[in-house]
Amino acid sequence: MEETYIINGGRKLSGEIEVEASKNAFLPVLAGSVLVDGEVEFLNTPEFSDIQNMCEILKVLNIKVNRSGKYLKLNTESIKNEKITHDLTNKLRASIFLLGPLLSKFKEASISYPGGCNIGTRPIDIHLSAFRSLGVKIVEKHGYIYCNAHNMKAGKVVFSSVSVGATESVMMSAIFLKGKTTLYNVAREPEIRELARFLNEMGAVVRGAGGDIIEIEGVKKLHGGTFSVFPDRIVAGTHLILGALCGRKMEIKGVRKEDNQLLLNILRESACEIEEKNDRMVISASEHIPACRFLETLPYPNFPTDLQPQFMVLESVANGTSVIKENLFENRFNHVMELVKMGADIFVKDRLAIVKGVERLYGADVSASDLRAGAGLVIAGLIADGYTTIHNLHYIDRGYERLEEKLKLLGADIKRVKIE
Ligand code: UD1
Repeated sequence: MEETYIINGGRKLSGEIEVEASKNAFLPVLAGSVLVDGEVEFLNTPEFSDIQNMCEILKVLNIKVNRSGKYLKLNTESIKNEKITHDLTNKLRASIFLLGPLLSKFKEASISYPGGCNIGTRPIDIHLSAFRSLGVKIVEKHGYIYCNAHNMKAGKVVFSSVSVGATESVMMSAIFLKGKTTLYNVAREPEIRELARFLNEMGAVVRGAGGDIIEIEGVKKLHGGTFSVFPDRIVAGTHLILGALCGRKMEIKGVRKEDNQLLLNILRESACEIEEKNDRMVISASEHIPACRFLETLPYPNFPTDLQPQFMVLESVANGTSVIKENLFENRFNHVMELVKMGADIFVKDRLAIVKGVERLYGADVSASDLRAGAGLVIAGLIADGYTTIHNLHYIDRGYERLEEKLKLLGADIKRVKIE
């Protein structure tokens, strides 16, 4: 039985929508909980399938997981070092985050290569070479990574290239190493700051997260505590783009202005009305959105690759032509074919998409190829003339919480329908 969205587009959206806790911050924080002795409580756990899948892996490690709505309690008292098999990692690239904490805690770990959204080859060589530079012995065999960290020592790691996941993995692996570990050429994403905030609240000493160099002073143990993860900047950005296209005083609660600054500037230049009230933004659509001309995705603080598909929908109905360059992931234009089915005029050459704005999109039968492509198609369906059917909802459910229910409250005509 497959689930699809059926959207009857063209309605103006108004009312309030709340941004959930950040998926990309929550996943490493959950992995980091492995380091804690005792209990960790989370007060704002979102209903994303990625979070559920990470909790399933924690259960395999014999961590007690208690969940009731937004409340989640993890108890690590009886934690065991288990092999993390393919059926667990296949659903979730973030499963790789467990490697660092397991090495820290048990000095040994075995994990299958991670899966996740199909947006490129997504290797993990940067993670592994950083571990090796701290003395971890690694054998890669039959799709598994076997690590031995008995000779792992604090030291210097210079990342060959900026990687969010590798920065987070290595940061967690160094928490208990005696002395100081310094990481150079690290990613600066807000989610890295959030992971450092979590680890520090549990007793770690991590300095510099959010900048180019991170220092970790080894501690003997981490204690438990209570934590709330900050709101998701990609979900906030998705809602802002939606508001720019069809909002009528649409109020978004949980927008961290500093994390979405670039998008907010572009939308303001597009004559969208955006009123700010602390962490709330009230947005009304612009009648005529000028094409942005050129935009490229790059690591933070530049434009995020995770908002590229949603932003392309905005450009597909803008006045004029824009060029969007995707620098992070080589397969991240899979939504283009679907948008073209909906009447968009987009041509792709290598890492460039040339988007000629059209007057309107129209409904069609389309499929999400990954999480953010799916979010882009939902926006496209909501502004299109007529009915759009979106397949592969399981991708969208990975990082948006009951999206259809929230959009209905704004006045959208969207249904989740089971089909044979
Ligand atoms: C994280 C985010 C993802 C976002 C991405 C870029 C999470 C759970 N996911 O993914 O939503 O799109 O950052 O902002 O936080 N690379 C290598 N070797 C490696 C690691 C990465 O070549 O070992 C390459 C990747 O293929 C990519 C680039 O480096 O081209 C950046 O990837 P990275 O920052 O590692 O992304 P993720 O941590 O996987």
